[in-house]
Amino acid sequence: MIDAIALPKAELHLHIEGTFEPELIFEIAARNGVTLKYPTVEALRAAYEFTDLQSFLDIYYEGMNVLRTERDYYDLATAYLRRAVAQGVRHAEIFFDPQAHTDRGIAFGTVIEGLSAALADARRDLGITSHLIMCFLRDLSAQSAMETLERALPYRDRIVAVGLDSAEVGNPPSKFQAVFDRARAEGFLTVAHAGEEGGPEYVWEALDLLHVSRVDHGVRSLEDPVLVERLRRQRIALTICPLSNVKLRVVDKLADHPLKKMLDAGLVATVNSDDPAYFGGYVGENFVQTAAALGLSDDDVVTLAKHSIEASFIDDVSKRALFDEIERLAASAASA
Ligand code: ADE
Ligand code: ZN
Repeated sequence: MIDAIALPKAELHLHIEGTFEPELIFEIAARNGVTLKYPTVEALRAAYEFTDLQSFLDIYYEGMNVLRTERDYYDLATAYLRRAVAQGVRHAEIFFDPQAHTDRGIAFGTVIEGLSAALADARRDLGITSHLIMCFLRDLSAQSAMETLERALPYRDRIVAVGLDSAEVGNPPSKFQAVFDRARAEGFLTVAHAGEEGGPEYVWEALDLLHVSRVDHGVRSLEDPVLVERLRRQRIALTICPLSNVKLRVVDKLADHPLKKMLDAGLVATVNSDDPAYFGGYVGENFVQTAAALGLSDDDVVTLAKHSIEASFIDDVSKRALFDEIERLAASAASA
């Protein structure tokens, strides 16, 4: 059995605010003199019972309210990067939700300076590379997204791509076509959450109107065979988050997850953790638990790790080096 944790991999679907563990929420709340609604870490964790995406988002936005200073953002990202390294993550493409901070009066610069300092230090001290992806909250207006894009322009070199997240149904990709056109013209790559709770038509719009390089989630793509063929032919990756899909009831249980079907259909599916502090596992747990529930072979697990590298935004030389490492590890596991 291959060691999925040790395999070099990239994490491509990870909200930094979703890595905010209750212990750190309490620590930062105390530091900032903020009173929380829950009296203890245990009481907060006990509230993590979700019925759908919105019930999660309500508690997710509440948790991040305690973030105020550059140091807070630095500590949040550093805690994630340490855990990621321990689980074989060699490169992370990290979402952040600027509007969830600027709308509470935190300066864009505070958020980005804190996060990017943590990424730079982790590269130097832990050897993990990373990029930031700025997400627009799709339940807010297109105008608010455009203002956020303009705020980001002075930090253009710190952000590799723009994305789209938050409440999906009723907020289709088409709402943000002009913002994404502008973002691409400014040199950003694009990704979008689509096909998590929304149907395949949201994935079509993400491809045709937002020109995304990857689709975040995209689980519901399987309902449309023509879409599956398009994703397969163009090798457009899906950033799948199995434990998230169970917690938010996108699938009933892990054993029902369509990840194996996606691999068998030739899709570039990847495994990621989404909001690990809320969904019960970082990327390593997502790999291990999903492989066990679906009976994935060592070849499947190696394919998933390779897909994560292929679908990342790193250069081809770095990709080749990581592919070689994965192949060496796979060969030694096969001969053990
Ligand atoms: N923001 C954080 N996690 C999310 C998810 N799974 N879907 C949409 N928006 C999110
Ligand atoms: Zn997500």
